[in-house]
Amino acid sequence: MQTKNKDIQIVENAEAVSRAAAEILVSLALQKLKSKKSFAVALSGGSTPKRMFSILANEGALREQMPWDRVHFFWGDERHVPPDHADSNYRMTNEAMLSKAPVPFENIHRIRAENPDARKAADDYEQELRGFFKLEAGQLPAFDCVFLGMGPDGHTASLFPETKALHERKRLVVSNWVDKFESYRITMTAPVLNNADIVIFLVSGEEKAEPLQVVLEGDKHTDRFPSQLIEPTHGKLLWFVDRAAAGKLRGQ
Ligand code: 6PG
Repeated sequence: MQTKNKDIQIVENAEAVSRAAAEILVSLALQKLKSKKSFAVALSGGSTPKRMFSILANEGALREQMPWDRVHFFWGDERHVPPDHADSNYRMTNEAMLSKAPVPFENIHRIRAENPDARKAADDYEQELRGFFKLEAGQLPAFDCVFLGMGPDGHTASLFPETKALHERKRLVVSNWVDKFESYRITMTAPVLNNADIVIFLVSGEEKAEPLQVVLEGDKHTDRFPSQLIEPTHGKLLWFVDRAAAGKLRGQ
């Protein structure tokens, strides 16, 4: 399904979404690295990425083709917990992929969410991005690829409905208080996510069918459905969706 600048690819199930994501990451990295030295990807948390990471780290052909030493791993968002906490996106990625693949330590750019001050953790990560991408004031980082998930409430990264971070236009990374978790999250902002060369959403499961229909085909209410904020300014937007999640799309 292809609309103006959205490409929606519907595949059989969550396993196929994870596999498609692993394959596209390897092929994008190989392609881009023909003309540049390093490839920067921002990862997300969630169950589909977890499987994607494990495919990348374990499956012969993909593991061998992945240019591990030239790919730099960042996170689009993190929970406000230390890196060994069960909720940590870094921990999940490390267990599923980073610790199992030949990834140089300096290629891992995690959010230091163990800082008790979530605002400082966000500031530090913003500095990390400024340093890596050598940004001047007012510039945005341009990730080669950003992976995102979408929650059943329409959130993406840690841009939750009706939260302050949705309106941030200057900062690259912010702490975002989320009432329903009674905690902070640390998240890249929409301008950063939208400045990537390609943004890839991974969405699976029946509980995503209704919000996905609204996000893709409904009126625009970005405060209620923050995934609608994602509209790359110059890059591509690709959705890998399984049949269950695509169940309510009308194909307009
Ligand atoms: C996180 C995320 C978050 C996630 C969605 C979808 O840290 O939780 O980055 O935005 O992508 O909640 O997660 P699932 O794909 O597991 O439903």
